[in-house]
Amino acid sequence: MSSNSGDSRGLFSGNLGYILAVAGSAVGLGNIWRFPYLTAKYGGGIFLLIYFLLLFTFGYALIMAETSLGRNTRLSPVGAYRTFADKQHSFLKIGGWLNAIVPMIILPYYCLIGGWVIKYMFEYLTGGSASAAADGFFVGFITSNFVPVVWHLLFLGCTAFIILLGVQKGVERASVVMMPILLVLAFVIAVYSMTRPGAGAGIAYYLIPDFSKFSIMTVVAACGQLFFSLSVGMGILITYGSYMKKDVDVEKATIRIGLMDTTVAMLAGFMIIPAVFAFSGGDAAAVNAGPGLMFITLPKVFESMGMGSFIGAAFFIMVFFAALTSSISILETCVSTLTDELKWSRTRATMFMFFEAIALGIPCSLGFGAWDFISIAGLSILDMMDFLASSILCPLCALLTCILISRVVGTQKIVDEIKSTSAFKGEAVFRFCLTYLAPVILLLVLASSVAATLGFIKI
Ligand code: PFF
Repeated sequence: MSSNSGDSRGLFSGNLGYILAVAGSAVGLGNIWRFPYLTAKYGGGIFLLIYFLLLFTFGYALIMAETSLGRNTRLSPVGAYRTFADKQHSFLKIGGWLNAIVPMIILPYYCLIGGWVIKYMFEYLTGGSASAAADGFFVGFITSNFVPVVWHLLFLGCTAFIILLGVQKGVERASVVMMPILLVLAFVIAVYSMTRPGAGAGIAYYLIPDFSKFSIMTVVAACGQLFFSLSVGMGILITYGSYMKKDVDVEKATIRIGLMDTTVAMLAGFMIIPAVFAFSGGDAAAVNAGPGLMFITLPKVFESMGMGSFIGAAFFIMVFFAALTSSISILETCVSTLTDELKWSRTRATMFMFFEAIALGIPCSLGFGAWDFISIAGLSILDMMDFLASSILCPLCALLTCILISRVVGTQKIVDEIKSTSAFKGEAVFRFCLTYLAPVILLLVLASSVAATLGFIKI
């Protein structure tokens, strides 16, 4: 199978640019907003343990597989799948399109939440820390129909502007500037939070596994989080792999990206869980506030701390950077599909996605206000889109990628691609996970998601 030369494609300048851009995609709202509340919900340490086990086996294998598929074909997901899907396996062509559609579903609501983050950032930067912490602030804001849409537009505009600058000058440069600042801020805030009086109980809850809290849902939730956090099963790594130079060591880059993603998620837990414990006087229920943990509980915690408005501002600037580098990767993947498949210019593809994200972002916002009567299985419009993308389509896409590689492309071809620049110490783990472990886990996750949609189990 011939590899496309990719001369006219944008390429990352080298190792560091590539690593920071993919880490920028991986590190996002998933790490800072989702990981801490899921860890708290699923029992702290036991969730962490399962998450790590999955990361080093299944997560590692899937990142390597998707990236190498992209680098080998130099194409975005639709083309990469089409390159290999022969007559016998023509159903796999759908897999390419599914991978391409996931980021198109995620972009509108991810940018809407990005808009909420900008709103909080402005609130803190303009001295409004007390109002951000006031009862009803968050709910009042998200139910105000078109007001959040204005912030959504601002966030989407920042994302589109960077995409229009191109792969190296936009995507890569944005990550190279924002990622180091994000890491420093995350570290400083975590240290500050962990040294508050009473934080020790929260640290213990976070780190010590309680095996009695284990259930199959711990595995399903950890797996879903791993997908979302590593940006796996959404065509992103295929696209970014297609921009990777042939001399980048895929294995080393993957390990560094996984480490960076996990470090920020862990730091987010260290920032949030001990601080909420300290604030609530050691009440484990307080940390279980679900999705509202970051937008409702945390501002109250900041307000109760000395220097709360300063820490709050630093925190929301960090979240903004994390969300922006991720939304850039989401939009870049959509643009890459449209330019590759429809031969559109970069500007035309970006403008198209901009309007798509507004058109679908508005119903997501109204879903908390005027359209809150629209709900399926208790999910709002935003939650439905998230559930469809991250709980159903992502595992399905990852499963199709495993089938494509193990049954059609041949695992050996991907192993050769990786070995062309890596020592590939994890080859045996990679082969085992891709062929056996990943399909089993993915089927389990898919079955649980469908069962949850039908109301048979509670996630
Ligand atoms: N990995 C990002 C996060 O953890 O927030 C989220 C994300 C990025 C989701 C890219 C989807 C995506 F296509």
